[in-house]
Amino acid sequence: MKTVTLHNTIEMPQLGFGVWQVEEKDAVPAVTKALETGYRSIDTAAIYGNEKQVGEAIRKSGVARDELFITTKVWNTDQGYENTLKAFETSLDKLGLDYVDLYLIHWPTPEYDEYVETYKALEQLKKDGKVKAIGVCNFDIDHLQRLLDECEIKPAVNQVECHPYLAQNELKDFCRDNGILLEAWSPLMQGGEVLKDNTVQDIAEKHGKTPAQVIIRWHLQNDTVVIPKSITPSRIEENFDVFDFELSVDEMAAINKLDRNERKGPKPSEMNVR
Ligand SMILES: NC(=O)c1ccc[n+]([C@@H]2O[C@H](COP(=O)([O-])OP(=O)(O)OC[C@H]3O[C@@H](n4cnc5c(N)ncnc54)[C@H](OP(=O)(O)O)[C@@H]3O)[C@@H](O)[C@H]2O)c1
Repeated sequence: MKTVTLHNTIEMPQLGFGVWQVEEKDAVPAVTKALETGYRSIDTAAIYGNEKQVGEAIRKSGVARDELFITTKVWNTDQGYENTLKAFETSLDKLGLDYVDLYLIHWPTPEYDEYVETYKALEQLKKDGKVKAIGVCNFDIDHLQRLLDECEIKPAVNQVECHPYLAQNELKDFCRDNGILLEAWSPLMQGGEVLKDNTVQDIAEKHGKTPAQVIIRWHLQNDTVVIPKSITPSRIEENFDVFDFELSVDEMAAINKLDRNERKGPKPSEMNVR
């Protein structure tokens, strides 16, 4: 598995497995299948309601803890310094782990203006050795800049919606310039129309690969961390089978041209749901 090095020298697998919208009943089989296939990074969150099942699948797998990279996130209602520390302990307990590899703020919810305090709790968890790395999700440049200005430890990761129809080039450049790794959520646009895009389909045909594999490759070759989700065993395998081909410079450029700033999720600056 190809890894990327976070700014604090921690190694993170570049391809992981996401479990949003994986119902409780599906979570143990899906994570079990992912671990059998070779995934070593699992992306969950308190709000996904499946931390317990993720932990169960990890224990059943027999994979050594230090070979795994487990991410979870503090939900919007738990923001604030003390609330975040409590929420973290709840997540840890549900996962049945004694540390997580990456702990993220799920959304900035800027209207409440609590993300700096929340991030300071993450810094404390890092100092206490309860997390290996800390970061954020859905942070725009201005939110990131505030953390860089007002906090001690810079975020290792910014996990944001990213796929060929939402390339996030400006944010990618800002993150790269500041040593923050960009991690793509909904990397397949939730299985949506980008998989039917003619450019993607033509490239896939040329390589004897599927559109999903081409898009995952595009993320990897852009140095993005990518966490596709699937509960379908054949797709869990398909999405991992991406290390035996390479997109050419022209193919990368053709996919880069598909960007049309189209989102599946809300704009982070407007997402204030609690
Ligand atoms: N931080 C955040 O705010 C945030 C927000 C959203 C997501 N995330 C994270 O990012 C992960 C991935 O994003 P996502 O779940 O939104 O979307 P995604 O990974 O882009 O797409 C998942 C959808 O695509 C389908 N799919 C998977 N592989 C496929 C393939 N090879 N061919 C065709 N269809 C395929 C899946 O169907 P089946 O499952 O039926 O196979 C599922 O419906 C999440 O699970 C979560 O961990 C984070």
